[in-house]
Amino acid sequence: MNRKYRKTVIAGNWKMNMLASEIKPFMEELKANLPKTRSCEMVLCTPAVMIPAMVKAGKECKVAAGGQDVSSFEQGAYTGEVSASQLADIGAKYCIVGHSERRQYHGEDDMLVNAKAAALLEKGVMPIICVGESLEQREMDLTMEYVAYQVKAALSGIDASQLRRCVIAYEPIWAIGTGKTATAQQAQEVCEGIRAVIRSIYGARPARAVSILYGGSMNAKNAQELLAQPDIDGGLIGGASLKPVDFAAIIKATDQD
Ligand code: 13P
Repeated sequence: MNRKYRKTVIAGNWKMNMLASEIKPFMEELKANLPKTRSCEMVLCTPAVMIPAMVKAGKECKVAAGGQDVSSFEQGAYTGEVSASQLADIGAKYCIVGHSERRQYHGEDDMLVNAKAAALLEKGVMPIICVGESLEQREMDLTMEYVAYQVKAALSGIDASQLRRCVIAYEPIWAIGTGKTATAQQAQEVCEGIRAVIRSIYGARPARAVSILYGGSMNAKNAQELLAQPDIDGGLIGGASLKPVDFAAIIKATDQD
């Protein structure tokens, strides 16, 4: 983390878990476990249908609501899709785009991720842009090349003023839901590389201000070491964000200076 230049963000990705009716009890338990003062932005990204409940229940603890996906189209005959303006209208402050599960199960490519990020920015919703390599790519020593390509493609056409509203999440696919966390050094190396890519496009100042999160089996135990790295500005947390005590512990881990 580097609080001088950028905000720390702890974002939960609930994926397709939980029910709207479970949000209130979750938030009550979270509140009971949160430290009194927090110096990070807290976000919970839920299925779109649960965003209004999250907006309502999240107010007291200042937990922002986020979506997990958005249509790249503005409006029209796209059955089943949710638009950026609809997300903004119900109070979503953030929205994940390009999660590896969307890439894997729904065939999303980098061009679509770019279009989705642009659609969100247009409506004032902050994209959390996910990138990350597969195990095969890591073993072939292609990690940085591949991740650099993903970052460049996702940010194509996005100007420096819009970049300020983007969050990047580095999620190595092999670490998602597997219990295998990247070592703090591995995660730092890629997050530092991502910042270098952003610097090469936008220059030093915008690159210094972008929050880059790590995601992939982040939990109450390993959060502190990961967050101590200079280029890791927070976490995108799956499994551990479903448990209020664990999520609160990760939030506490941001207070280490
Ligand atoms: P886990 O924390 O369950 O590994 O999930 C990470 C993730 O995919 C967050 O988007």
